Amino acid sequence: MVPIERLGSGIPGLDEMLEGGFPIPSAILLGGEPGTGKTTLAVQSLFYGARQKEIGLYITAVSEPWWVIQKFLSQYDFYSQKLIEAGVVQFLDISEIENEEEILVKLMNNVKRIQPKRIIIDSINPIRSRLGDGEEYRELMYDLLSSLKGYGCVTMLICETSYSDLSKLSEAYLSDGIIILSYREIESSRKKYLEVLKMRGTDHTTGMRSVNISKKGLLVYPELR
Ligand SMILES: Nc1ncnc2c1ncn2[C@@H]1O[C@H](COP(=O)(O)OP(=O)(O)O)[C@@H](O)[C@H]1O
Ligand SMILES: [Mg+2]
Repeated sequence: MVPIERLGSGIPGLDEMLEGGFPIPSAILLGGEPGTGKTTLAVQSLFYGARQKEIGLYITAVSEPWWVIQKFLSQYDFYSQKLIEAGVVQFLDISEIENEEEILVKLMNNVKRIQPKRIIIDSINPIRSRLGDGEEYRELMYDLLSSLKGYGCVTMLICETSYSDLSKLSEAYLSDGIIILSYREIESSRKKYLEVLKMRGTDHTTGMRSVNISKKGLLVYPELR
């Protein structure tokens, strides 16, 4: 048996569910409806790695000015402007690119140049809307995920989706792991949850866990509360 190398997620409570962390290499689909904490989880993990001198790459596919994204992220304690200025956390905007090949070339050229250990694509939805939900999009995801495998990194693919639409997504089949974030309205407050639906090579915990998001970031409780 070849032991699987893992990368600590940096999310309190999550590694315990994953036999120590994200397998390397892997592509993890981070799904959930808007506001469930996908960006928070992914960026918190990126900065956690960056504090250990690992290069992190945040790819934005939404046409939102970079300073707006930064302004929101800078509210969290894990955010560090210094790590960005030092180039340990880098940003790439692909919101303007229209076709499959150009997206793939731009992404892979930057991955080759930057050699990131953690990559976030936030989110894949605008890429799918641009390319259409057909052959071109599926080909891009397939080529991208297979090319990334050679770089020994963990890629977090953020996807705005409801739990019920998950089975319709080609990414759900292509990815090595699926983590779903969700919320429910309970006694007029919104409770947040996390569930690991799949993680290749991992005897992961099943079932929903409660999640809390604060200024410190996201944490996963060892139970449902
Ligand atoms: N400082 C904070 N304290 C508590 N909760 C916060 C804070 N900042 C953001 N949140 C919560 O995090 C949610 C946004 O998470 P985000 O990662 O942007 O979600 P997603 O990417 O899934 O849309 C907000 O809806 C809010 O509930
Ligand atoms: Mg988000």
